[in-house]
Amino acid sequence: MSSTIELKNISQSFQLNETKITLFNALNLSIVQGQSYAITGPSGSGKSSLLMLMSGLEQPASGQGFYVKAGTSMGFDLLRADIGFIFQQFHLLPELTALHNVALPLKLRGDKQALNKAKIWLDKVGLSQRINHKPAELSGGEQQRVAIARALVFEPNFIFADEPTGNLDQKSATEIADILFSCCQENNAGLVVVTHSDILANRAQHVFSLADGECRQQSNEPLKVMSC
Ligand SMILES: Nc1ncnc2c1ncn2[C@@H]1O[C@H](COP(=O)(O)OP(=O)(O)OP(=O)(O)O)[C@@H](O)[C@H]1O
Ligand SMILES: [Mg+2]
Repeated sequence: MSSTIELKNISQSFQLNETKITLFNALNLSIVQGQSYAITGPSGSGKSSLLMLMSGLEQPASGQGFYVKAGTSMGFDLLRADIGFIFQQFHLLPELTALHNVALPLKLRGDKQALNKAKIWLDKVGLSQRINHKPAELSGGEQQRVAIARALVFEPNFIFADEPTGNLDQKSATEIADILFSCCQENNAGLVVVTHSDILANRAQHVFSLADGECRQQSNEPLKVMSC
């Protein structure tokens, strides 16, 4: 049974001195495991903030989030263990090799097969020749591949990615998008990407467009099945 993230009547606003910034009001959204979503919109419209809310990493000003797993509705605190997050700036640990960066989430869970599984994932993202390189010894596209392997290595139900191709040339961006979409599909993970790229957004099955506090949803054609 697919897990779902449900946002009900979510509003987000920030008070800075005398000024109140309202990003959105009374949003209702569902994110279903195995489906792909893109969030688009102008700079400052609240895309990253919405991603942080739906992944449970930040709290809304009002409204509620539910995580429905195996037919049971639970609090957002239990979502944390089932998500992987990919940041635009990768957030890899600089002193660790690619292999140990990817193995880290598994080691933290006490998985004795951490290094073997990390090797398998680095191979899937095309980095088997770079496993002993530290982040500073990798290109931007290679670092993003490590970040994708690290997010997927413990096979989470949902992957969130904030502008995963924002710093890359078009060829590398296409390769990263191929890896991200195909690996999520293979793992039956829900995927939510924030992006300024129409090319990337159009690969998702569902597109949310944020502007002036409004969130509009459109549907895209189903994705072709690709293997990892
Ligand atoms: N913790 C915070 N405190 C105060 N204001 C905030 C906070 N987080 C975000 N904001 C404000 O909310 C607005 C939306 O920020 P957000 O980062 O979600 O935009 P975005 O759509 O992701 O933009 P970009 O495309 O430039 O990344 C911005 O004006 C920002 O200053
Ligand atoms: Mg942003």
